[in-house]
Amino acid sequence: MSSAPVFIASCSPRKGGNCDFAASLVERTLPVPCSVVRVADAHVRPCSSCGVCDSMPGRCTLDGPTVLPSSTSTPMPPKDGAKALFAAMALAPVTFIVSPIYYYHIPAQAKAWVDRTQRFWALNGETPAKGRAMACVLIAARQQGEMLFDGAERSLRWMAKTLGMEWLEPLRLYGLEHASALADSVEKQADICSYTARVFGSAAR
Ligand SMILES: Cc1cc2nc3c(=O)[nH]c(=O)nc-3n(C[C@H](O)[C@H](O)[C@H](O)COP(=O)(O)O)c2cc1C
Repeated sequence: MSSAPVFIASCSPRKGGNCDFAASLVERTLPVPCSVVRVADAHVRPCSSCGVCDSMPGRCTLDGPTVLPSSTSTPMPPKDGAKALFAAMALAPVTFIVSPIYYYHIPAQAKAWVDRTQRFWALNGETPAKGRAMACVLIAARQQGEMLFDGAERSLRWMAKTLGMEWLEPLRLYGLEHASALADSVEKQADICSYTARVFGSAAR
């Protein structure tokens, strides 16, 4: 494995909940440096389908600092976080996406990030994270449900494909609802630790 830090993206808007706990556990399990980011705090604007990346693959008009008209009173973050998130993925040998399930998918803030991958769609093979891998820890409250993770997995898988990344089988965790549910479950923590070690072992080969 390269010496670049493993990238861990925690995708829940709930601070200090199960995903943040899982992200920290992945970090503590890995014997290499990690960079952990809370995607909901990264200010990723949603794709506006402006079409610029169709003719200029790799470019996104939402990347730059936005200058707001003086009449606008809506507070907006001066910068957009998508580019930095993609740069972290391109650098890291493995990216761990840690996400809750929201209505059979990922939360809106994380989906905005997935949609911003569209800029790379027309790159035709010159993908920015070629040779990198994506692993996922998906967390849901329901105790069962055959298709509970399908929506999230399909989107994340296509994000990986668009970026040229290898898709690794995700870890699916059921039955984690309240914010400290994972902190209270030694068994599910052990599942995360063994998944992380397995992913690391395969990436290190
Ligand atoms: C808006 C919203 C939608 C949710 N939708 C689902 C769902 O479809 N299925 C499910 O099992 N859990 C659902 N949950 C529960 C979360 O996936 C669960 O509580 C998870 O542990 C949250 O992770 P966090 O603590 O990192 O925020 C939903 C929670 C919220 C707030």
